[in-house]
Amino acid sequence: MSHLNTLKGYLPWIQTPLIINAPMSGIAKSKLATAVTTAGGLGQIGFMDDLQDLTKELEITKKALADIKTETLPIGLGVIVFGTPIKAWLDLFAKYKPAVAWLSFASASELQEWSEGIRLVSPQTRIWIQLGSVSASVEVARACQPDALVLQGIDAGGHGHEDGASIVSLIPEVADTLSELGFDIPLIAAGGIVDGRGCAAALSLGASGVVMGTRMLAAEETAIPAIYRDAIFEAVDGGQVTARSRVFDEVWGPNFWPKTYDGRCLKNQVYQKYKSGVDIQSIRSWLSQAMNGSASESLSIQDMGSIWAGTGVGMVKEQRKAADIVEEVRGSTRKNLERAMTSL
Ligand SMILES: Cc1cc2nc3c(=O)[nH]c(=O)nc-3n(C[C@H](O)[C@H](O)[C@H](O)COP(=O)(O)O)c2cc1C
Repeated sequence: MSHLNTLKGYLPWIQTPLIINAPMSGIAKSKLATAVTTAGGLGQIGFMDDLQDLTKELEITKKALADIKTETLPIGLGVIVFGTPIKAWLDLFAKYKPAVAWLSFASASELQEWSEGIRLVSPQTRIWIQLGSVSASVEVARACQPDALVLQGIDAGGHGHEDGASIVSLIPEVADTLSELGFDIPLIAAGGIVDGRGCAAALSLGASGVVMGTRMLAAEETAIPAIYRDAIFEAVDGGQVTARSRVFDEVWGPNFWPKTYDGRCLKNQVYQKYKSGVDIQSIRSWLSQAMNGSASESLSIQDMGSIWAGTGVGMVKEQRKAADIVEEVRGSTRKNLERAMTSL
């Protein structure tokens, strides 16, 4: 069976090419997930610390998507695995049975524990694991038998592998390596895809679907303040105005993220100071003074909070409905693939 048929087997409402919203913690909630799934994509709800709030979001989603007749809740549910106690989450998986459990940011053994736990309480839920290297893909393929691997290239906004590659080399190398080892796992592309050109490229690389985080920051259903969205729309030249660094977490206090991970954010004064060698304690006290209004510099929105965004940010220019984004990317992917064929 082709990978696409496998995916359609358990995501029967999807249209192709498969477009997925990233499960962005705290901002991809029921509204976004519902809109994306209704538009024929895979809508996802991102990780939330407060499980009562998450339960409310799942209830709203369940009602909103009741017309889609599947044995699962037709969305993905994201879990940031490291440091998260598993028990209460398994109760949620057992109760809501999301079509996909999207697991990220953890060791292979932690991911194995979660995969096995979820499969036990909700056998219908498929396990997708996001990672960013060939070695992690092999380790996780062996430990977890994932239903799909989401390969996150270094262009991606938000957290990801500190050492990495773009999807241009990551996807084919993972595909070759897994195939040599006898694995047959659908691959999903993440990182830098904001339109049909990126989606067409990802499909050519061997992906069975694409994830968009940064582009979905423009969706009106994504729960971010207007000022955050405006900073995204104003950003140009994505590789210059964003950077990967651990300082975007470190500045807020002890950084609990495992050493493997940093994150891509809009560059800000914190980052500039860090790059020029200012120590983290001094940056923290400067920031708290500046936030109290007692430092000389004034702060922009990207100084006052970490604005996670990928290198594709320069092409994200206007607020749209999530469904329009999904449909536009789907249609434009076809056109771009046809155009590419004419150059052969
Ligand atoms: C604002 C933001 C928040 C994110 N939060 C999460 C998260 O909670 N869990 C996760 O697995 N990935 C998260 N990501 C990463 C995405 O899953 C995905 O890899 C990334 O958005 C793809 O790259 P793109 O931003 O260029 O589309 C986040 C990305 C962004 C931009």
